[in-house]
Amino acid sequence: MNARGEQTRSLWMNVEVYPRAPKFSGKKSCDTVIIGSGIAGLSVAYELASIGQKAIIIDRGPIAGGMTSRTTAHLAPICDDGLSTLINLRGEETARLFQESQEAALARIEENVAQLGIDCNFRRLDAFLFPAMGVEPKEARDQRQQEFDAARKVGAAAELVTGVPLKGFEKAPVLRYPNQATFHPLRYLRGLASAILDKGGRIFANSPVLSVEELSEGGVRVSTENGGVIEAASAVVATNSPINDRFQLHTKMSPYRTYAMAFTLPRGTLPDALFWDTGDPYHYVRMNPGPGSVDYLIAGGADHKSGEADDGDIRFEAIEAWIRALVPTLGKDVTRWSGQVLDTIDYCGFIGLNPGNKSVYVVTGDSGQGMTHGALAGLLLKYLITGTDNPWAAVYEPSRKTPSGVINYVRENVSVVTNLAGYLMPGELKSVGELRLGQGAILRNGLRKIAACRDLDGKLHQHSATCTHSGCEVAWNSTEQCWDCSCHGSHFAPDGSVLNGPAVSPLMAA
Ligand code: FES
Repeated sequence: MNARGEQTRSLWMNVEVYPRAPKFSGKKSCDTVIIGSGIAGLSVAYELASIGQKAIIIDRGPIAGGMTSRTTAHLAPICDDGLSTLINLRGEETARLFQESQEAALARIEENVAQLGIDCNFRRLDAFLFPAMGVEPKEARDQRQQEFDAARKVGAAAELVTGVPLKGFEKAPVLRYPNQATFHPLRYLRGLASAILDKGGRIFANSPVLSVEELSEGGVRVSTENGGVIEAASAVVATNSPINDRFQLHTKMSPYRTYAMAFTLPRGTLPDALFWDTGDPYHYVRMNPGPGSVDYLIAGGADHKSGEADDGDIRFEAIEAWIRALVPTLGKDVTRWSGQVLDTIDYCGFIGLNPGNKSVYVVTGDSGQGMTHGALAGLLLKYLITGTDNPWAAVYEPSRKTPSGVINYVRENVSVVTNLAGYLMPGELKSVGELRLGQGAILRNGLRKIAACRDLDGKLHQHSATCTHSGCEVAWNSTEQCWDCSCHGSHFAPDGSVLNGPAVSPLMAA
């Protein structure tokens, strides 16, 4: 378990983006204060610093140490839930603008890499959509045609091809999307952070923000732990799940846990490409260079609503069984991890003014496309903060109404989350003495519910099971050794401290 309470480590976490970032204290002012230092926060800060704004970035933990460090580095502008679905939900013109903006975000990352000379192994490559296991050939051809037609409508390049070099799919109907990309996300952000500092931006780590207030006289005030204050003309909240919102945005998106594993593979076994299938949730394969003559193959999927299952080991086994069937020469498992994505009900992120505010902006709801949504936030918020119209704004407008078609679609597609392994139910344990190392459970104490866990060092922790954001009940996540809240995505360490918003206060003592 690391200092933040999490147990797993992604393939990228050997790189620290800004290890000597200071803690915030005292009172400071700037043009824009950005809360959250993942790809969204750093991209916004870089774009603003590039036009001469004084920007301050502040994060509750290490720089880029949140969900961005748990990405699988998929740089694909194609809607993660399928272009045909996006057209059905938002219409052809909005889907076209979505595609155009996501491609622009990817191009901006490429441009930054070149201009700043960032060594992050950015490369353009092909992506392949292939049928999920068990899909009949006719259905597979129909699905491919549907996505091909949708790609043409929105101006995305796509080609009908046959087969991918995955066992059993050598002759399958496949869609190829050229000119997608991947990179080492933390090396990229290390370069971006350095450029922000060069341009006069200031970056603070390990400094939790407690509130973001809009002032009646204009501007914003951000208050931090230990009494720090930042005053600015604008604020951008870029914290995976927004810490400044209680209900408005949170009713339009849901947090999901997603799982990934990296394996060794002799170099050249598979082409450097992105692969994903048509399952729901879908499986995917991504490649990354390893040491010597070895590649790392990243496989992932098996998503579930955060806090609604505690069976990570079984999900990892399922991912491993899936990928070993497709790639029989796969080597050993080198690391495994999980992360959290926020899925909106219409599959487009929220980037723009926070509902009801004039100077507080938000970036959230990346819907599985966190890397491109993050870079896009930099482009789009630069326009919005400087008062420049942009046709992409309406696509991502946080206050947008949800069309009735979307609500009907969601109702029809509500999936029951399957908990693959039984986990401890409230009241199932008679006493905390029964908790084993790394185990947590909700216990009853009269009318109160207690979140009790024994950490990997054997220390027992007991807190109220009520999430401090809006009162939902937390659930133990034995894979990450933390408490997850299924309502809006807060995570708490065994000692009750906040790991991930929207909560800003720790779990209360039992
Ligand atoms: Fe909102 Fe827990 S995250 S109630």
